[in-house]
Amino acid sequence: MVIYSIQTLLLLGAQLVLSIPNNFFYHDFLNENGKKEIHFSGVNLHVDSAQLSVFAVAGANATMPCRFWYEPELSSPRKVRVKWSWLPAAGGHETDVLVAIGSRSQRFGEFRGRVQLRQDFPGDAALVMTNLMLNESGRYRCEVVDGLEDRSTSIYLELRGVVFPYQHPRGHYHLSFLGGLRACEEQDSTPATFTQLFQSWKEGLNWCNAGWLADGTVQYPITRPRVPCGGHDLAPGVRSYGRRNLHLHRYDVFCFSSSLRGKVYYLQPSHKMNLTEAQQACQEDGAEVAKVGQLYAAWKLTGLDRCDAGWLADGSVRYPITRPRINCGPSEPGVRSFGFPPPQHKHGVYCYKSGDE
Ligand SMILES: *[C@@H]1O[C@H](CO)[C@@H](O)[C@H](O)[C@H]1NC(C)=O
Ligand SMILES: *[C@@H]1O[C@H](CO)[C@@H](O)[C@H](O)[C@H]1NC(C)=O
Ligand SMILES: *[C@@H]1O[C@H](CO)[C@@H](O)[C@H](O)[C@H]1NC(C)=O
Repeated sequence: MVIYSIQTLLLLGAQLVLSIPNNFFYHDFLNENGKKEIHFSGVNLHVDSAQLSVFAVAGANATMPCRFWYEPELSSPRKVRVKWSWLPAAGGHETDVLVAIGSRSQRFGEFRGRVQLRQDFPGDAALVMTNLMLNESGRYRCEVVDGLEDRSTSIYLELRGVVFPYQHPRGHYHLSFLGGLRACEEQDSTPATFTQLFQSWKEGLNWCNAGWLADGTVQYPITRPRVPCGGHDLAPGVRSYGRRNLHLHRYDVFCFSSSLRGKVYYLQPSHKMNLTEAQQACQEDGAEVAKVGQLYAAWKLTGLDRCDAGWLADGSVRYPITRPRINCGPSEPGVRSFGFPPPQHKHGVYCYKSGDE
């Protein structure tokens, strides 16, 4: 049998490669075994994931399964290059997460210090991510390279959480795209992706005011068509104004919140408080006034249910209902809002304590 070097193959061109199916020749630049060329006869590299998608909440850890193997099996292990990259659900370009060769690895950007390869068994290339951030949902691609062989598979990371419409304290349609981004971040959340808004619409979110999404489009979800929201004639659905000018146009924003950390609770006051007194009351309890995103996450993820209106950090007054009942707002579960009352008004307060318990 003739063994061609990669250089010869390149000179001979693609036609020869095609004429010898099931034979792979490549430069073995990753293995330090002295032999520069390796001949695989009918050996195939496979890469696969046990799951199509992984669900998690912000602040939690997630494992994205990926494994590779050879057919037929190889007698000795080979050093491969594993690369994980990420296509954000919010849009944008695929970016590098981690590249590993053997025990050496490099991590990139925001992922530094929070990701590693599992390598529990031969061929294990699972990505272990810790302390997930709100905006890290999207498609993760596991690519395995052995010489010229290059295979990959993708897994979707979806954060569990809740989408909520948010408006500026001065009223509707006051937020540029950047303003919306800041407003969400100030409320411990991030602008929702289209997938997240669509999921909320399927779960019944009905909102007649248009808001920014993470991709710079402006949309709103309608489950019960009515006259001021496009009329009875339009079918229920997520309505889109398309991409708007990020600087000039003003709308509300749809924020996404999801968190494991910390605890939101209603502080039982001996008397109702104005906003300044509410802030002091939470501080004296070793906490701070809860943000809107934290209240929504507690409502959605831990079932917080309380029929008492309370101050929140942005100066709004709201309360979370999971079991609708008389005198506690509409017949559907939800976070009820009284908007932004004057700060001297008296209410209870929702506090937030960080930490695991
Ligand atoms: C995530 O993993 C880290 C390191 O393995 C561990 O210390 C931490 O407790 C885990 N966090 C959660 C929320 O499970
Ligand atoms: C995700 O959110 C974090 C924290 O808010 C921020 O620092 C980071 O730049 C965001 N990443 C992307 C890709 O938007
Ligand atoms: C709240 O009440 C305190 C007196 O208890 C007063 O000093 C403070 O100015 C009030 N704050 C607001 C925002 O009304």
